Amino acid sequence: MRDGESKHLTCDVVVVGAGLSGLRAALAVDPAYRVRVISKVYPVRSHSVAAQGGINAALDPEDRWEDHAFDTIKGSDYLADQDAAELMCEDAPRVVYEMEHWGTLFSRRPDGRIAQRSFGGQGYPRACYAADKTGRALYQSLFEQSIKHRVEVHQEFFVLELVVEDGRAAGVIALDIATGSIVAIDAGAVIFGTGGAGMMYARTTNPYINTGDGMAIALRAGVPLKDMEFVQFHPTTLPGMNVLITEGARGEGAYLVNREGERFMERYAPKLMEVAPRDIVSRAIETEIDEGRGFDGGYVHLDLRHLGETLIRQRLSEIYDFAITYKGVNPVHDPVPVQPGQHYMMGGIATDKYGRTILPGFYAAGECAAVSVHGANRLGANSLLDTLVFGRLAGVEASRHVAQNGPAHITDQRLQQTQETLDQIFSRTGSEHYGTIRRELRETMTRMAGTFRTGARLQEAQARLQDLHHRYGQASLMDRGRLFNYDLLAFLETGFLLDLADTVVEGAIRREESRGAHARVDFPTRRDEEFLCHFLFSKTPDGELKMAREPVIITHYKPKARTY
Ligand code: FUM
Repeated sequence: MRDGESKHLTCDVVVVGAGLSGLRAALAVDPAYRVRVISKVYPVRSHSVAAQGGINAALDPEDRWEDHAFDTIKGSDYLADQDAAELMCEDAPRVVYEMEHWGTLFSRRPDGRIAQRSFGGQGYPRACYAADKTGRALYQSLFEQSIKHRVEVHQEFFVLELVVEDGRAAGVIALDIATGSIVAIDAGAVIFGTGGAGMMYARTTNPYINTGDGMAIALRAGVPLKDMEFVQFHPTTLPGMNVLITEGARGEGAYLVNREGERFMERYAPKLMEVAPRDIVSRAIETEIDEGRGFDGGYVHLDLRHLGETLIRQRLSEIYDFAITYKGVNPVHDPVPVQPGQHYMMGGIATDKYGRTILPGFYAAGECAAVSVHGANRLGANSLLDTLVFGRLAGVEASRHVAQNGPAHITDQRLQQTQETLDQIFSRTGSEHYGTIRRELRETMTRMAGTFRTGARLQEAQARLQDLHHRYGQASLMDRGRLFNYDLLAFLETGFLLDLADTVVEGAIRREESRGAHARVDFPTRRDEEFLCHFLFSKTPDGELKMAREPVIITHYKPKARTY
């Protein structure tokens, strides 16, 4: 194949994304079927490897999966679908032991059992961990399994479109980044495990690759997104680059302290203090800063000194290194500066608890999906669990779909349309580079759709987004080459982020209440009578954003006041 040419690849199931959810899905596909995984980066650079603190499971006889489910649902501010949360929490011990048997090197208790620590909003210390590198430890085992089972991975393939033919998913169209060729991957079923969209915000723990590609592509293909207004801000990130400082540090006993030397969480969550859920701790830190009790530069202190050097260097070795490397602060001797930063999207592609979307043959799992087990606020250490539970189920369901419906095919005409769209982008001559638009988008979202929101600020954000869309429609590239054109990738990603930002802001405007991570200063209370429901966002064929409501599934846990 010459550079810039297009071609077809065929398979039964195509998985987009090679993080934990994508690889777990691929491994769950019936071995009778051919699976191809595509990933825009080399797989081990997927964001799953950055997860630090843990994976929740009720392993001890004194703990129960039902308690884990309750904590998850309460943590979600009662917006989680309770049947899905129950399924996830019941499956958690099996998942952890499966990973252990596949070789994950969990930290251990003195008696040899898997070590568990406290995490935000949990009534029991149930976060299993591998020091503060849990994502990497899990990923390594899963990656080994994928090699053992000869999972076929096309690395540096960038997904462009989800193709719908005859009312079902028929595969994806992707860009082979190295050659610039457009590739149609025909598949009887498609699974997205494409991760989050943290790059929508200026302050984020996410890497550059988290640009919401899968969510935006699904939206464009007519698949609704759910609960997009719920964006998680992690309380403790290093100011400047917003590198994550794991909640596991607070789970081990670290304190949050303001400029006056006060453990201020006493005022916000007197029982759980620093291990209250993230939405509460992030708002507490922002309040301290806003009211002048933070340090100049907008941060508070995370004090680990009383934990002692041995614990810090054994169980928190990565953040020990990060604090020294990025801030020149040794946590053994000095408190670490921290501020909240965007961390996770609770919203995403609307699926049921088996990963199914409304489009036959199309599945999603992990952060790109909203099952919804996290509702309005995810509990720490539930996302690694989510990827493995729902990744597997998506793979099983996709196999079932292929067995019943057979292969699918992308037409040459469809491929040609994609090629023409890209050619049109290359031929643009507008003087504005999309980079300025992306920067403004990230600043707008951080300032106007962050931890605290008001109707007026959100309306202003919406007006700015309209302007950014308009400018994006004319913006151009600097690099017009076809090989390894990362300028093109970032251009396309910016378009994805803009589309998703519309949904976040629209949902945040319409949700006139405060629930979980969505805090409206002008509507400070939760209003179940009107808003105990999911918001579903879809696009009409002419590009208009539409919103509908869907009831929350309640099984056993009646919504109550959420105090900690
Ligand atoms: O703080 C952390 O280690 C993050 C964990 C998570 O997001 O689940």
